[in-house]
Amino acid sequence: MEQKAMIIGEETVRKYLTPENVIKCVENTWRWYGEGKVVMPNKITTDMSAQGVAGWFNSMPAYIAPMKCAGLKLVGGYDNNKALGLPYIKATVVLTDPETGILRAVISGDRINDLRTGAQPAIMSKLLASKTDIVTIIGTGLQGYMSLLCMSKMIRMKEIRVCDISEEAKDRFIGRFPDAPFKFVKCKTNEEGCRGSDIIITVTNANANLVEEPWVKKGALVMTMGSFRETSFDVVRKADKIAVDQIGQSLHRGNLKELAEMGEITADSFDIVIPDVLAGKMPARTNPDDRIYAQIIGTGMLDVAVGGMLLDMIKEAGETVTTVDMTK
Ligand SMILES: NC(=O)c1ccc[n+]([C@@H]2O[C@H](COP(=O)([O-])OP(=O)(O)OC[C@H]3O[C@@H](n4cnc5c(N)ncnc54)[C@H](O)[C@@H]3O)[C@@H](O)[C@H]2O)c1
Repeated sequence: MEQKAMIIGEETVRKYLTPENVIKCVENTWRWYGEGKVVMPNKITTDMSAQGVAGWFNSMPAYIAPMKCAGLKLVGGYDNNKALGLPYIKATVVLTDPETGILRAVISGDRINDLRTGAQPAIMSKLLASKTDIVTIIGTGLQGYMSLLCMSKMIRMKEIRVCDISEEAKDRFIGRFPDAPFKFVKCKTNEEGCRGSDIIITVTNANANLVEEPWVKKGALVMTMGSFRETSFDVVRKADKIAVDQIGQSLHRGNLKELAEMGEITADSFDIVIPDVLAGKMPARTNPDDRIYAQIIGTGMLDVAVGGMLLDMIKEAGETVTTVDMTK
């Protein structure tokens, strides 16, 4: 039996993936997950810092039944990458045949990860925001850029408030949107950025209270996307509703981890689970005045699904890519 695996590099991935087709794929995959059509164990983190490597990586497997797509995302954060001119986050997607386990493809996962990461706040803003005029982005690195890029395809925004500890990062971020239909405001403090804002997004590699509860206005949506703590506990404690993209992993990483460890947040604490909303099992926002706190932890099924979509697109286009005969 033939055992040919494709090796797909970043250039090919970039040729096919757009914010629009990835947003659609993320939305579909979340919905299928809500409908019980996706198998996805919790991710496993391998933290190498105790052994002197400044990095960690997650193993994130999934099977998406409607796409007959099985695989694994391997993604990590590497502190020394910046000095090497590489992004902090580095990802690879591995797809196998769900029936036989034969390797189908090894795909550079960087663009997949970045676009699917940005697609998440875009879809969640559409579902959860009361108003979308003023958006605050705290952390203007790569994922911050992808978030705003995808959001610009889904919602109308008027003012983007830009917060980061690095002035250079703020300028680079703004420079990436030369023809933006919204205005940018560079903020000196996070408080200045957050007060009066409709949507606040944190997407940093910090482990700190970047947002304080009194800065969050009535009806605002706060979304945290970083891997560690990004708001004070009260932002979560005093929110009217708590939303997540997936329950299990939300208790082990990101902004909710410490509250979960203290027993203040459990699997029953979540009022809104986005895949269930998309599957029609629960409503999203029900009151325009609610302050909604949302954690976007990110799940491997999204990368596996986007990888599967990419393979279909490459096949449909008839493009020849590098293949390896795994029997040789
Ligand atoms: N939720 C998800 O699906 C998902 C997916 C991928 C990455 N991430 C996480 O997103 C975060 C950002 O990743 P990235 O690729 O954009 O990294 P990046 O290095 O490109 O950008 C991070 C930015 O945060 C800024 N920053 C750091 N500390 C800050 C602070 N205290 N206050 C304000 N800004 C601060 C940095 O200056 C930088 O501009 C990481 O924690 C990463 O693990 C989440």
